[in-house]
Amino acid sequence: MKHLISIADLSPEELWHILNRARQLKDEWRSGGNKPILKGKVMGMIFQKPSLRTRISFDVAMLQLGGQALYISPDEIRLGERESVPDVARVLSRYVDVIMARVFAHRHIVELATYSRVPVINGLSDYSHPCQGIADVFTIWEKLGYLKGVKLSYVGDANNVAVSLLFAATKLGMDFTIGHPPGYGLPSEVLARAKEFARRSGSRITVTHDPIAAVRDAQVVYTDVWTSMGQEAERAQREAVFPPYQVNATLLSYARPDAIVMHCLPAHRGQEITDEVADGPQSVLFDQAENRLHAQKGILAFLMVDQFA
Ligand code: CP
Ligand code: NVA
Repeated sequence: MKHLISIADLSPEELWHILNRARQLKDEWRSGGNKPILKGKVMGMIFQKPSLRTRISFDVAMLQLGGQALYISPDEIRLGERESVPDVARVLSRYVDVIMARVFAHRHIVELATYSRVPVINGLSDYSHPCQGIADVFTIWEKLGYLKGVKLSYVGDANNVAVSLLFAATKLGMDFTIGHPPGYGLPSEVLARAKEFARRSGSRITVTHDPIAAVRDAQVVYTDVWTSMGQEAERAQREAVFPPYQVNATLLSYARPDAIVMHCLPAHRGQEITDEVADGPQSVLFDQAENRLHAQKGILAFLMVDQFA
């Protein structure tokens, strides 16, 4: 049985399988609706943090594929407080066919997967956000027509979203540059793993503290919030450090003229991205958000249908 805990666990072939499945299911949806390949299946969605895209896109993806999703709010099971994480996994996985969880501590995703009888999907942890990374490379593939050799630049905090993007990029042969302030870089074990993926796929990884150098020649400029959920106590300190990494019209002028701009959303407009850029002609933010729906379907088909085909 497969889980989706980190993109690092997927082979390039499996990642391409999900992308192709997302493409096929998006086309099918556009031409009148999806076949009910998940008829009678139920997803349990555990949330310790708020969500718009992840929650609604999984809910709608399950519905459109013939199944259904149950939203479990932070107060409902109080993961690890009211009941241990292994016991939650043991019980919930006897009721539902797939579990999706958004948690603070990544180890709770790993623990859920260890004790679950059904596939577990990481819907964001403090370490990674694989469903986002998959939707992002799907969007880049859709916009540019190819992935190998694409120059992707991430500017800002080397957070969960950056980690998943780095893993996806280096699995697929894309060149990944990150520009971040000193002290806000990628964990060393993440870089070490990504370098190994890059060696196999032919990707190049560049790390810099210079935001202009980071975006020079980029085909894709990506940013995310400076303060992620769970880091609120560091907000003032972060807001003092990150302004030079704002994706604004000046910074974007150093990228290729046809570069696309991405952000996983929610955006803090006026901080990591300006309105001018977020709403400008190079922005693909809302196509990217829509693609969460199609990517979730690719992930669900991979884990729940194709695995057992
Ligand atoms: N990008 C993303 O995961 O959005 P939500 O936090 O709204 O799910
Ligand atoms: N890095 C952000 C992403 C939100 C989708 C966070 O973890 O809050």
